[in-house]
Amino acid sequence: MSKEEICTHLGDDYDRYLGAIVPPIFQNSLFTRKTQNHGYVYTRISNPTTEIAERKIAALEEGEAARCFSSGMGAISAGIMYWVAQNTHVVCVKSAYGPAREFLSSYLAAFGVEVTFVSGESLEEIEQVVRPNTKLLYLESPSSHIFAMQDLQAVADFARARGIGTLIDNTWATPLYQNPLRYGIDMVVHSASKYLGGHSDIIGGVLIGSAEAMERIAYKERALFGSVMDPHQSWLLLRGLRTLPVRMKQHQESAMTVAAFLESHPKVERVFYPGLPSHPGYELGRKQLAGYTGLISFVPRAEDQAIRDMIPKLRYFEHGPSWGGFESLIVDVGVGISEEASRSTGIPHGLVRISVGLERAETLMADLDQALNTLP
Ligand SMILES: Cc1ncc(COP(=O)(O)O)c(C=O)c1O
Repeated sequence: MSKEEICTHLGDDYDRYLGAIVPPIFQNSLFTRKTQNHGYVYTRISNPTTEIAERKIAALEEGEAARCFSSGMGAISAGIMYWVAQNTHVVCVKSAYGPAREFLSSYLAAFGVEVTFVSGESLEEIEQVVRPNTKLLYLESPSSHIFAMQDLQAVADFARARGIGTLIDNTWATPLYQNPLRYGIDMVVHSASKYLGGHSDIIGGVLIGSAEAMERIAYKERALFGSVMDPHQSWLLLRGLRTLPVRMKQHQESAMTVAAFLESHPKVERVFYPGLPSHPGYELGRKQLAGYTGLISFVPRAEDQAIRDMIPKLRYFEHGPSWGGFESLIVDVGVGISEEASRSTGIPHGLVRISVGLERAETLMADLDQALNTLP
């Protein structure tokens, strides 16, 4: 099945649902079994609506199984807990999503779990910090602010040879444009609140990996912490997944055009976009990415306050930190950032990030142009 057909049709079972073209929301906590056992007991463990989303996403990621969570962070923390134990060590890329880094560095410290942050640019760097008790390499490639990348094949081979697990946040690329399990990465996580949902109306997360790992997670990390996806959320996720390929095609086409426009703009100092040859990860991306999505970062040629003043002048970019929806957004992530924060995350001073939505690229470029031209 192609990815398009997985998104539109995998999991269809019209006879099971009275011929309904869209499967119903099983909005119930309990499944009874007085006369017949249908294989479901309680929605915290499994639910037929959620299972369709899980089957689609597992197939898209080329994994054996998937489990949906109430948020991306629910999936990230469950995935990390699957790999770690008391007094173990994790290596994490410093460009990873902030709350994931915080979960590792501050929350898990209380349980004796230690973390070392690396740039992820070379295996030598990882080799230097790995310890006998290292249990997990936590990756995010491309990352969501500067789109830092790790060589997935090399890191997976390195970790496998040492019995270390690998977990990657693949939210930026979506399962359409990168499939880390192909390279031997053990587990993939997505925030479904971004492109998978695509309409800025759900918070959700997904873990994908071996059937054995996902079964354990369903009964341990997901059932015991309880961050399971709600059936209505799953239904909205399914609706989003049906149009994922056409949305991503549009996001990619527009973002490529907007990124090239920004790179040639006199008020822009530097652009970060993995689809541009100027991006440090461009060559690696050509090996492991099948496409590029709608996030672009750039550093305007201006002081902090001037950048802040420019943002409200944009008509089509709302100011907010999320991304991956139908709407265009901007966030001043590196404006006013401290030296320490810039060093520890790799986010350059003055960086702003835009999420290119589904508006026309020409409209967005005209909007960016008029706002940038107000900079002194
Ligand atoms: C790269 C990345 N991973 C994970 C998450 C967490 O997802 P959620 O907000 O669904 O918990 C986010 C949210 O912004 C993100 O940007």
